[in-house]
Amino acid sequence: MTQAPTEHGHPTLDEIDLSAFEFWLEGRDYREAAFRLLRDTPGLRFFEERILEGSPFPPGPGYWALVRHEDVWAASRNPQLFCSGQGSNIGDLPQEMNEFFGSMINMDDPKHYRLRSLVAKGFTPKEISRVEAYVHDKAAGVVDRMLERYPDGRADFVEAIASPLPLAIICEMMGIPPEDHERIFNWTNVILGAGDPEYGESYEALMAAALEMFAYAQALGESRRANPTGDITSVLMAAEVDGEQLTTQEFGSFFILLVVAGNETTRNAISHGMKALTDFPDQRALLFENFDAHARTGIEEMVRWATPVIHFRRTATADTELSGQAIKAGDKVVLWYASANRDERVFAHPYRFDVTRPLQPAQVGFGAGGPHFCLGANLARREMTVMFDEIRRRLPTLRITGEPEYLQSFFINGIKRLPCAWD
Ligand code: HEM
Repeated sequence: MTQAPTEHGHPTLDEIDLSAFEFWLEGRDYREAAFRLLRDTPGLRFFEERILEGSPFPPGPGYWALVRHEDVWAASRNPQLFCSGQGSNIGDLPQEMNEFFGSMINMDDPKHYRLRSLVAKGFTPKEISRVEAYVHDKAAGVVDRMLERYPDGRADFVEAIASPLPLAIICEMMGIPPEDHERIFNWTNVILGAGDPEYGESYEALMAAALEMFAYAQALGESRRANPTGDITSVLMAAEVDGEQLTTQEFGSFFILLVVAGNETTRNAISHGMKALTDFPDQRALLFENFDAHARTGIEEMVRWATPVIHFRRTATADTELSGQAIKAGDKVVLWYASANRDERVFAHPYRFDVTRPLQPAQVGFGAGGPHFCLGANLARREMTVMFDEIRRRLPTLRITGEPEYLQSFFINGIKRLPCAWD
């Protein structure tokens, strides 16, 4: 999802099936060409659903694809009409499972608001600046370790740089001890890698990882309820929502959401960002030579470029209309952030990586506004800024030296491995 469509990929409208596994195995230029064609086609297209192998649930009724920035924006900002409470992934789950897996991302107000207000205290700009020193130390430690472990100046960028920082930060904030970080890492890989043969590919593997993580969270939550420390887990276990404490079940779901959401997304944004800096050396020079001037826009551009979360879904609560297409109450709409972030109606030269791109109109990698806008956006921006500052100061020659190995997923724009070298 990083390049302009070329002659290789010219699908016709009838060939495009966003639900087909094969579509997501096609080259990235094919995918870009498909989304561009969908954006240029008036109205909205409807797609049938497929299910993950082994899922006990039948495929749902299909969905309207929102591919233009304007439509993604409109649906995100009208939660009364496009709700999240029936699920934010394309497939349907029973209601209890939606909340079990997704916590507040699969809830509507007022329940969503009450839960979000609780945890939001840990993510205010003030709180983020409080963890700033810790982010700096961790980022410096990540580079130290890489230099020590790979004296020949070659490594896998994902393993050495992009993964360890977000993992360490979210684990620290949640109060997860270092000896458990690897387990957490593996669980999140399985949960967001479902569909990729390397991580289990099946519904059973996904469920097993989620249940193990849930049990881990419950034990951690109970121990913090008994002996609070200053971490988010302790705050959540002590907090009250409408006079009631969170149950360990609610906390378990919250925990999975925070840890999964905070980990892979930031990792992939860093990996795609480093690849873009290698592919566009003029932009790298601009950013690295005047970091303070361009970091804010440069980091936002990396998130637009990467679009680590490819889509989320909403459900219409009443009959309505978008882009001239009638939508019935109960219809699903899928917000294709990956396409909205390349919308030429909004972004000049969308296939150009430009670290000076203005912040408005806003990219939608963190969502397009509304109540579910990414809670961790400020944290992710901080982590990325600190990591790239560390790279430019200590590893100024670091570059990507080969093709990425992409995650097979239509949900997460993941890079599994990315060779890099430095002098
Ligand atoms: C570059 C990194 C990240 C990207 C691209 C990203 C992307 C997103 C997106 C697209 C949404 C859904 C927005 C919507 O539906 O309107 C979201 C929600 C969320 N994100 Fe992030 N995220 C990132 C980092 C983080 C981090 C570091 C955390 C913190 C631990 C986090 C926690 C959450 C939570 C809790 C939600 C659900 C919010 C709600 O439902 O109210 N994210 N994120």
